[in-house]
Amino acid sequence: MARVFQVTAGSSRSGRRRAGQPTPAPVEPALARRAGIVAGYLAPHPPHLVYAENPPQNEPRSTGGWEVLRWGYEELRRRLRAHRPDVLVVHAPHWITMVGHHVNCVPNPRGLSVEPIFPHLFRYHYDFRTDVDLAEAIVEEGERAGLVTSAMREDGVRVDYATIGALHLANPDWDLPVVSLSANNNPYFYSDASLAEMETLGEATRTAIEKTGRRAVLLASNSLSHLHWDTEPDLPEDMGVERPFTHAQYAGDMELLQTIREGPTARLKEAVPAHIEATSSETKAGSLTWLMAAMGWPAIAGDVLAYGTVIATGNAVVEWVP
Ligand SMILES: [Fe+2]
Repeated sequence: MARVFQVTAGSSRSGRRRAGQPTPAPVEPALARRAGIVAGYLAPHPPHLVYAENPPQNEPRSTGGWEVLRWGYEELRRRLRAHRPDVLVVHAPHWITMVGHHVNCVPNPRGLSVEPIFPHLFRYHYDFRTDVDLAEAIVEEGERAGLVTSAMREDGVRVDYATIGALHLANPDWDLPVVSLSANNNPYFYSDASLAEMETLGEATRTAIEKTGRRAVLLASNSLSHLHWDTEPDLPEDMGVERPFTHAQYAGDMELLQTIREGPTARLKEAVPAHIEATSSETKAGSLTWLMAAMGWPAIAGDVLAYGTVIATGNAVVEWVP
């Protein structure tokens, strides 16, 4: 007899009552876990911030420093938990690829990440899980959108400090799987030339997240104004010498952050290239544009959780909840 003729009369709830089983509480619509991008953060990665935190994974020891930025990250972590993501997706400017966009598809990256200019501040032992299904879906959607994309499957390739720095500061427990995207290097040669491509990459990222049913938080691992000192004090965390590179660099950052605080995000389509021209902003690597495009340029304001300089570069921790 066909299975359809053997269905017990009544609903599954009444069936449970008959069997003496407890009836689960109905899921409130407001508490239902929706898939998609649930929040995006500007999450800068100065190695100094990790150094100042003294986590066990990082070899050098500090006496602290850059507290206001680190308090901003504390608030980011509290909010990130509340969003209950399945996965963190990070775009970082120091995994540099000369051709196309690469996605880390290694299931369990582990090793030692060293900041090449500040090896005395950042030698970080990492060991995390990749959401390989989502990583491969981003590669596939990128290709479908016409981008040159590649799945990085070489176990043992060192993960760059911008990826590790943003991920550590956002989730030092490392208890969420990760997808890590490379930065195509063209913007460093041609200023904002590749920002349009970052829009396509952002849209491909969103499509992959939706198709795989993930609940994702996105991290754009970029600093803002990017001129910096070329000498270091005896004590690297000497806050007596920490200040903006120039007033113009600081003012450029404030103008961008004011636009972010007012919203909507579509204003950033003009404001980000102007800010890059004015301050040599690290956003020329495209992480912020990728983030905005992935969220669909939502008509909302960003919440600036902190701003501070690190060796004179401007850094802001910002949340957008689409
Ligand atoms: Fe950087």
